[in-house]
Amino acid sequence: MTIIHLILLILLIPLKMEMTEEKETAETAETKKSDGNLFKDIFNICNSYTKIFKDKRKISPEYIPLKLPGREKDCTKMASVLSDAFSGCMPMNIFIYGMPGTGKTSVIKRVFDEMEKFQKKNGHNENKLNKVKIITKYINCREKATTEYQVLLRILEDERLKEIASGRGSNPDNNNEDKIYGYKLDGLAVEKLYEFLEKVLKRGKIALLVSLDEVDAIRKNFDKDNLFYNLVRMNSSLNDNLSDNPEESDNFNGGIAIISTTNDMKFKEKLDPRTRSSLSKKDIFFERYEASQLEKILEERKNLAFYDGTVEKSAINYAAGYVRKTYDGDVRYALNLFQIAGEITEKEGKSKVTHEEVRKGCDVVNVDTLNEGIKRLYKHLIIVLYAVADAIFKKRYKRLIDIHSDAILSGEAYEAYEEKCKELGEKAKTMRWFREYLNDLQKGEFLALSESGKGVRGNTTIISVGKYYTPKEVVERVEKLLLNEEVQKEEKQKEGTE
Ligand SMILES: Nc1ncnc2c1ncn2[C@@H]1O[C@H](COP(=O)(O)OP(=O)(O)OP(=O)(O)O)[C@@H](O)[C@H]1O
Ligand SMILES: [Mg+2]
Repeated sequence: MTIIHLILLILLIPLKMEMTEEKETAETAETKKSDGNLFKDIFNICNSYTKIFKDKRKISPEYIPLKLPGREKDCTKMASVLSDAFSGCMPMNIFIYGMPGTGKTSVIKRVFDEMEKFQKKNGHNENKLNKVKIITKYINCREKATTEYQVLLRILEDERLKEIASGRGSNPDNNNEDKIYGYKLDGLAVEKLYEFLEKVLKRGKIALLVSLDEVDAIRKNFDKDNLFYNLVRMNSSLNDNLSDNPEESDNFNGGIAIISTTNDMKFKEKLDPRTRSSLSKKDIFFERYEASQLEKILEERKNLAFYDGTVEKSAINYAAGYVRKTYDGDVRYALNLFQIAGEITEKEGKSKVTHEEVRKGCDVVNVDTLNEGIKRLYKHLIIVLYAVADAIFKKRYKRLIDIHSDAILSGEAYEAYEEKCKELGEKAKTMRWFREYLNDLQKGEFLALSESGKGVRGNTTIISVGKYYTPKEVVERVEKLLLNEEVQKEEKQKEGTE
C-alpha cells in the first residue's frame, strides 16, 4: 500500500461511517413504520391488491371438485362395474389408461367417495342379499408402495381392516385369540401378509376395492406379477365352497377387486401371461381433454374459486386453447396457469382476469417452475438431467426414433452423462447411483421413465424429459445456470488474486 492509498483511506473512513449511520437511521425509520413484522407487511401489501379470489384452494390442482366435467361418463362406467360389490359379487378388475392430467386419480377418488357415502346412507345390512361390507382403499403406488410387500402393508394398515382383524367387533372383551394380526407387520414373510388379508376379508365379509394408482411405480415386474396373481387368486380361494343359491345370506366370503391406473398403454402386455389370463378386467381409456372440455372444467373451477364477474370468457378460452396445444390438454397445467393469471390480475390492481393476464401467466409458469426446480438439485442430478435433455434435443441416439422420438434408453443416457461429467471436470458416479438419480429426477417430474416393451431389445428403461418442459428449455436453463456458476467462480478467483 502506497502512502497515497493510506491518506485516502484515512480520509474515507469517517465518510463511510457517516454513510452507514445514515443508512441505519433510514432503516430504523422504515422498521418503525412497518412495525418490524414480516407478515404484517405482507398482509398490508396484499390488502392493497384487488380481490379476485373467493377461495384460492379451489383452483389448485390438488383440489378435487364434486363435478368432473368431461368425465361424467367414465365415472358412471366405473361405478356401474363396481356396483356389483353391493350384491356380494366381486366386480371385475379395472384398468384405467390415460396420459398425465386426464383425471384418472380424480375419477377414482370421486367414485370411491360416492360409494362409501351410498353405503353409509343405505346401511350394508339392509340388503337381504348380503352382509357385504365395502371398503374402498386408495393407494398411490408412488407413495411408499413401490413393491409387492409395501402394497400389502398399506392395505393391512387400513384402520377399518385393523379393527376387524383385532377381533374387537366380534368380542367386546377383546379376546386375543380372535386377533388376526396386531400392530407389527413389517418384517413378516409376504405369505403371512396374504394369509392375514384373506382371513380379515373373510371375517368381515369385506368386498375390498383397492386402487393401485400409478401402478407402474411398482418397480419390479416380478412384484407386479405376484401382486396381481395372488390378489386375484385370493378371490377364488375365499369363495370356493359357496352355495349356488344367491338368496342365501351367507353367499359371500369377502373378495378383492383392483382398480389400476397407468400412463403406460402397454402395461398389461408386460404382465406375465399366467397373471394376465387370471385377470377378469375392464379397460377404460381416458382420452386427453379437448379444448372445449378444458373450458368447461375451468368454468366450473372459476365459479368455485373466483368472485362473480372477475373472469372474462376470453381468459378461459385462451387458457384452454393454449394448454390443449402446448401441453396436450394436461388439466393440471391449465389450473396452475389460471391461478397465476388471477394473481397477476390482483397484483396489477385490475378487476378482471382477461386473456392478457393468462398470456402473461403462460410465460411465468414454465420458466418459474423449471428455474426454481433446477436450482434446488444437487450437482449430479443437474448433470444427469442436462445430459438426457441435451442428447434428446440434439437427437444423438437413433435407436428409439421410430417408437419414441423424444426419448433415449438408459444405457445411452448413462453414456451421455459420463461425457457431460468429463466436459464439466466431474467424476462420473457409478451406474447404481445413476439409477437413483433417474428415480429422483422422475419424482421431481424433471424426467419421465417407463420400461421398454415390445420393439426394444432387452428390458431397459426409456427416458424422456418430464411433461412440463421441453428438452430445449431444460438445456437452455441448465446452461444458463452453469454459465452463471462459471462467471461467479471466475469472479471469485479474480478477487482472490487481486
Ligand atoms: N374433469 C375434471 N374436472 C375438474 N377438475 C379436474 C378434472 N380432471 C382433473 N381435474 C383436476 O386436475 C387435477 C389433476 O387430475 P388427476 O390427478 O385426476 O390426473 P391424472 O390423470 O391422475 O394425472 P397423473 O397421470 O399425472 O396422475 C385434479 O386434482 C383436479 O383438480
Ligand atoms: Mg393420478
